[in-house]
Amino acid sequence: MTEFLKRFVDAGEILITPGLEVAEGYVPLPLRNLNVNREVPFNVFFKMKKRGQENPHFIKGCARGEVYLEDWHQKLLQLRIPCVYVALEEMSLVMHYVNHYLELALKENVKSNLEKGVQVCDVMQLWSMNFFNNEEARTVEEVRVALKFLGSLFPLIRGDDQSIWDLMKIGRHKSTRLYAHCLNVCLLGMAFTDYLGWKRDKILGFGLGALIHDIGLARVPLAILEKKGGLTPEEMLQIKRHPLDGGRLVQGFANLRWEALQMVLQHHENGDGTGYPLGLKTPQIHTWARICRILDSYEAMTHKRSWREAMDPIDAIWTMHSDWKKSKLFDQNYLTAFIKFLAGR
Ligand SMILES: [Fe+2]
Repeated sequence: MTEFLKRFVDAGEILITPGLEVAEGYVPLPLRNLNVNREVPFNVFFKMKKRGQENPHFIKGCARGEVYLEDWHQKLLQLRIPCVYVALEEMSLVMHYVNHYLELALKENVKSNLEKGVQVCDVMQLWSMNFFNNEEARTVEEVRVALKFLGSLFPLIRGDDQSIWDLMKIGRHKSTRLYAHCLNVCLLGMAFTDYLGWKRDKILGFGLGALIHDIGLARVPLAILEKKGGLTPEEMLQIKRHPLDGGRLVQGFANLRWEALQMVLQHHENGDGTGYPLGLKTPQIHTWARICRILDSYEAMTHKRSWREAMDPIDAIWTMHSDWKKSKLFDQNYLTAFIKFLAGR
């Protein structure tokens, strides 16, 4: 790291303010993914704000090929800085690096299952940010990589009542909310379909569909996704296009199951025909999409949005049991099973 940066750090002027960094071409990398006293094969940036300046900016702290020193790591921890930033254009280098250390961690018996799970989820969230934001990353090979991550995660969360809820708490700040939401729906989906007694391959296929179900939103500006108050008719149209946009983006991937494609296309269809984009009714909506509709709504309801607070999970279960049961929006059989699944945890 440069002396220049050290002056900033010593002056306590680093500020991590969640915001638009993905839109600005930077991706947050949680500190726990950097290996101390090892070379870093990509540029590491810090989000900083000089005194008196309104907007933060990104400063290169550790150049590609430099060693990330223990001293620096400790300093950042002391300052309670949760992440550094990497450039979106260097994501293939970043993915190679984090994947390498993930494979080592999974082979060794040093970390607990939860710690390993956190590491897999970090890498999956980086994968999503890359896949959602970088058209060149949307390849058959990348889809195969995602399935490999899901395969690594599966034994770590299977049958473990607490892990899944702990894992769902990670990495949820404004700029990463869409990816964290998709990852959480994926985690919930894997645990729920396991509870339903599905086989491993089907669970992984469902997990992949859940992980990318909102990919069509990648094209919607964050200013619209995070907008407080009502959307204009044009903005609403943009939002309502995302299932079809998403379907078009991923339909060509041979290793994405057809059922998972239906999740992308139909996860906003309601059983009574009031959903979008096609206004389908329950018998016309694919089972996987009906399950995704329930998980998607529950996950959204139990997490904070810019326009409302998060609902307590107990209250959420009660709402599902009373209001959702009365509505014709959700598949009643899967809804009942999901309530039992949640209540039993
Ligand atoms: Fe969606």
